[in-house]
Amino acid sequence: ALITMRQLLDHAAEHGYGVPAFNVNNLEQMRAIMEAADQTDSPVIVQASAGARKYAGAPFLRHLILAAIEEFPHIPVVMHQDHGTSPAVCQRSIQLGFSSVMMDGSLGEDGKTPTTYEYNVDVTRRTVEMAHACGVSVEGELGCLGSLETGTAGEEDGIGAEGVLSHDQMLTDPDEAADFVKKTQVDALAIAIGTSHGAYKFSRPPTGDILAIDRIKAIHERIPTTHLVMHGSSSVPQDWLAIINEFGGEIAETYGVPVEEIQEGIKYGVRKVNIDTDLRLASTGAIRRFMGQNKSEFDPRKYLAVATKAMKEICVARYEAFNAAGQA
Ligand code: G3H
Ligand code: 13P
Ligand code: NA
Ligand code: ZN
Repeated sequence: ALITMRQLLDHAAEHGYGVPAFNVNNLEQMRAIMEAADQTDSPVIVQASAGARKYAGAPFLRHLILAAIEEFPHIPVVMHQDHGTSPAVCQRSIQLGFSSVMMDGSLGEDGKTPTTYEYNVDVTRRTVEMAHACGVSVEGELGCLGSLETGTAGEEDGIGAEGVLSHDQMLTDPDEAADFVKKTQVDALAIAIGTSHGAYKFSRPPTGDILAIDRIKAIHERIPTTHLVMHGSSSVPQDWLAIINEFGGEIAETYGVPVEEIQEGIKYGVRKVNIDTDLRLASTGAIRRFMGQNKSEFDPRKYLAVATKAMKEICVARYEAFNAAGQA
């Protein structure tokens, strides 16, 4: 059944678990997420980015998610729009039938320029008013994702301009978070703690100076009833990196957010954990390996099936690790 993010995260808070929110762009990702949820009896958040809408087309994405709900009627599913860049973008998603939207006012309409606090409050508050009138949940974001190692605003390729973000912009301030939630009435708040999107998050296994899990605790103490969201939370599995590189890929040494650190966050109010890159790495590794080992195969269903299986294994592991398993 289709449910709102607020319904699911209230349940998650009551029962002390976190929900992985997986990005979806195609049938294989959708199947992997749902089969894993079915196997582990987990509730689901699937999210579509602007890039996903551009790739698949909004109607295909919408019907992919509706098909998932039809095939797995016993699994609660939140249909979430990831990183909306304006109230108008969120409005269109609400019209399409999304049960939850993210208004990311930490960045401007270009999706990359940091904004003022007043701008963020204004666009988020207006989105909440509109969405709540339609029974739709809203996630806001305060603070900019980015690398505390380099000051790089989170570019997916790891080669963004260095030093454009200050240390302060990349760590959400607990007092500001309290003011933001009060003024906007968001259902969930994405916070910045040193993670960034994509595979190139950390040049070494992260320690507290570059991955500020302590900041989550400080924010949670200040706003204990607000559901917190971690973006850029792929763990970047070293075994998949090795397989990609063994079968002709070239991915440089890099590290993600360890699952144990996410589990620590879940103890302190993190309820939604955004994961895209891990499924990309797993499917790429599985396809590269299959192609390398089956040189005469040309039926796409063969290599897409191994990609689906690899993604499903990641989904199962995250549902279990975040204690969402058994909560559907
Ligand atoms: O926000 C980041 C997600 O990984 C979505 O990425 O914009 O390439 O679809 P995308
Ligand atoms: P990753 O790139 O770490 O998977 O993060 C995804 C995300 O935050 C989507 O909003
Ligand atoms: Na989101
Ligand atoms: Zn994100």
